[in-house]
Amino acid sequence: MSNRLVFAANWKMHHGPQAAREFMQRFLPQADPQAGAELWFFPPGPSLPAVVEAGQGRADVRAGAQNVHWAPKGAFTGEVSVAIVRDAGARGALVGHSERRHVFGETDAETRQKVAALHEGGLIPFLCVGEKLEEREAGDTEAVVIRQLRAALDDVPARRLHETVIAYEPVWAIGTGRTASPADAAAVHQVIREELGRLGATSRIPILYGGSVNAGNAAQLLGESEINGVLVGGASLDADGWAGIVGMADQFS
Ligand code: PGA
Repeated sequence: MSNRLVFAANWKMHHGPQAAREFMQRFLPQADPQAGAELWFFPPGPSLPAVVEAGQGRADVRAGAQNVHWAPKGAFTGEVSVAIVRDAGARGALVGHSERRHVFGETDAETRQKVAALHEGGLIPFLCVGEKLEEREAGDTEAVVIRQLRAALDDVPARRLHETVIAYEPVWAIGTGRTASPADAAAVHQVIREELGRLGATSRIPILYGGSVNAGNAAQLLGESEINGVLVGGASLDADGWAGIVGMADQFS
């Protein structure tokens, strides 16, 4: 578990099925499997099958959904359930991404329900946590991150906690070109690691960093032992560029 290194591409609202197929055709031959490295893709829902199909035969390539609803089914126009994304080949889903929290109003209580539904359905929640700029400036980073972790995870049994990935994404660093310094990010990862221990985790749950990660800063961030991978938006959209970042895995395994 401890040597897992997770490269997660969050495509947000980019790359429909055709673009996803073309991306994977170009990306996969440039990204040889590396020991311990997991390559996760979070495409828009309709592109999930294209990514899943392209990744067949590659145990390291996994697809996930960008969002799910917690209910198993029902009259929820525009939403997708865990069972539906699992049927489309997803093996995990993002939960509580800052755009969901701050653009679409997703609450801590909703992240808890989504995490529970994913665990119940056998999928891995990628729980995103992170403070806003004003919260960092007020010295509240730790309190915010701990609140978000507890709200989503405090009644999750240990055996399920281990089927979880955490992403620390300071809101002020997402899509802004501003990145947390490796040391600042590692300090927050340390706080998260301690809180996961208090919540009952006994083995190493991967904690990823996200927020303006690119080819120029990824190696430095991954060089911190507290940082077990990256969740990347903008710099994951270009197949050659993303292959370059993923190719850094061999420096850290
Ligand atoms: P970014 O996005 O890499 O474009 O900053 C990261 C994310 O939102 O997960």
